[in-house]
Amino acid sequence: MKTSIVKKKPEEVDAPLLVIGVAEDSVQLPPVIQRLVKDVMDLGDFKGKKCEHTLIYTQGRLPAKRLMLVGLGDAESHDAENLRKVLGDASRRIRDLGVEAIAVSLEHVAWGLDPGEAAEALVEAFILGSFKDPYHKTRELDEFKAVKELMIVSPEAGKEHERKAAEGTVIAEAVNMCRRLAWGPGNRVTPTVLAGEALKLRKLGVEVKVLDREDAKKAGLHSFLAVARGTEEPPKFIVMEYNGKEGAETVAVIGKGITFDTGGISLKSREGMPLMKTDMTGAAITISAMKAVAQLKPPLNVLGIVAATDNMPSGRAYHPGDVVDTYSGLTVEVISTDAEGRMVLNDALSYAAKNYKPAAMFDFATLTGAMQVALGEHAIGYFSNDDCVAERIEKASRTSGERVWRMPLWDVYDEQLKSDVADWKHTGGRPGGAITAARFLSKFVGDTPWAHFDIAGLMEQKSDKGYNPKGSKGPGVRLILDVLRNW
Ligand code: BES
Ligand code: MN
Ligand code: ZN
Repeated sequence: MKTSIVKKKPEEVDAPLLVIGVAEDSVQLPPVIQRLVKDVMDLGDFKGKKCEHTLIYTQGRLPAKRLMLVGLGDAESHDAENLRKVLGDASRRIRDLGVEAIAVSLEHVAWGLDPGEAAEALVEAFILGSFKDPYHKTRELDEFKAVKELMIVSPEAGKEHERKAAEGTVIAEAVNMCRRLAWGPGNRVTPTVLAGEALKLRKLGVEVKVLDREDAKKAGLHSFLAVARGTEEPPKFIVMEYNGKEGAETVAVIGKGITFDTGGISLKSREGMPLMKTDMTGAAITISAMKAVAQLKPPLNVLGIVAATDNMPSGRAYHPGDVVDTYSGLTVEVISTDAEGRMVLNDALSYAAKNYKPAAMFDFATLTGAMQVALGEHAIGYFSNDDCVAERIEKASRTSGERVWRMPLWDVYDEQLKSDVADWKHTGGRPGGAITAARFLSKFVGDTPWAHFDIAGLMEQKSDKGYNPKGSKGPGVRLILDVLRNW
């Protein structure tokens, strides 16, 4: 989507469709527009309620051919997230009309918001909300319409608006990239394909190194390779480095990249197994965020690591009861081969901590059904060993609108991880399953400030809503980018 800033009043702009936001009970419109919408408002067909929209044909009374009124809801509680939701919703209606170029009156959607912030949020709303990918369809492709051009109209338009709109574009495109990868099927989004996506970042100046099975063995990534034993699909351990400023701190982003999770020998039941194509959502977040970072160019260094492999049952697969070495040197007793995420992540965490000494590490993983049960699909549960890191996350949550909830990381839960035959068991049974998983990971971060995001509840958006169309939610990308932008 191409965006531009137009220094005009909304009633002067010539476009196939003009969007005007209207808050409930406080209609403030330019007189020409006021006259146009009088009937629809007086008759009570549009009240400005949240996500309400109505389409008016201007019949030459405005340069714009169509006018779409979008309800913002209660003016008092309007914020950037509300803006993204209501315009995200409207964006699909506009897309499906087949309108390719639209204008949005910034003042009428911003209300009390900072105009730059509103410009960024509205661009995100359209790019995120109207996202629809044909994926692997070869027929009915004419259903896949797209809004191609977005004009942000404001009499006060300036450089700052332009800069924020450009940032919004980069961020939203990264979320869509994450969605595309995460929703891609296991046979088409393989570890090799993920590595290919990472390698493309070289042309943006990112250094990329891909370790194959042999390289990983030489490096000592035994725990990662234990999971990869069962698959013939070549595993890839992907390391990406963005160098934004010499001598600056390094922040690491790490993603679970299980390109398909059958459960391995501890085979999953058939229900819900197709969704396990999204078990590399953490990897998709990491690669997409690295791309956005390379475009936004914040003055710090960012390390991205993805541990990518299928988790399959086979004659070579690892077994329950196995004792596995790890990169850290600790030994681990395997209880369920379906708890494979923590097996690939522990190596990634200690690899990052040891070789890069980052100021902080963040990992994203579709790790436990327990977290999905705990928080459902509306919030990301996270764990952290550092209150300053947690504060950065809370702040990014407020600006990005991505809900997070801090979970406890108390050491008493370690009791469930005691093993008779190895340093640790990798699971602690059903009670507190998301917490014991996080406690297990904590053994591999040393004293590095760290946060673990369990995104298992956010793999799927079941139906179109706000700025999330059906498919992958593309969770965490905006959140981590706000952490990194404000570092
Ligand atoms: N990828 C799954 C987690 C998952 C399950 C995400 C359901 C979304 C929906 C993970 O690899 C897994 O299988 N976890 C097990 C761990 C258990 C064996 C300790 C789980 O949560 O059941
Ligand atoms: Mn699993
Ligand atoms: Zn998994």
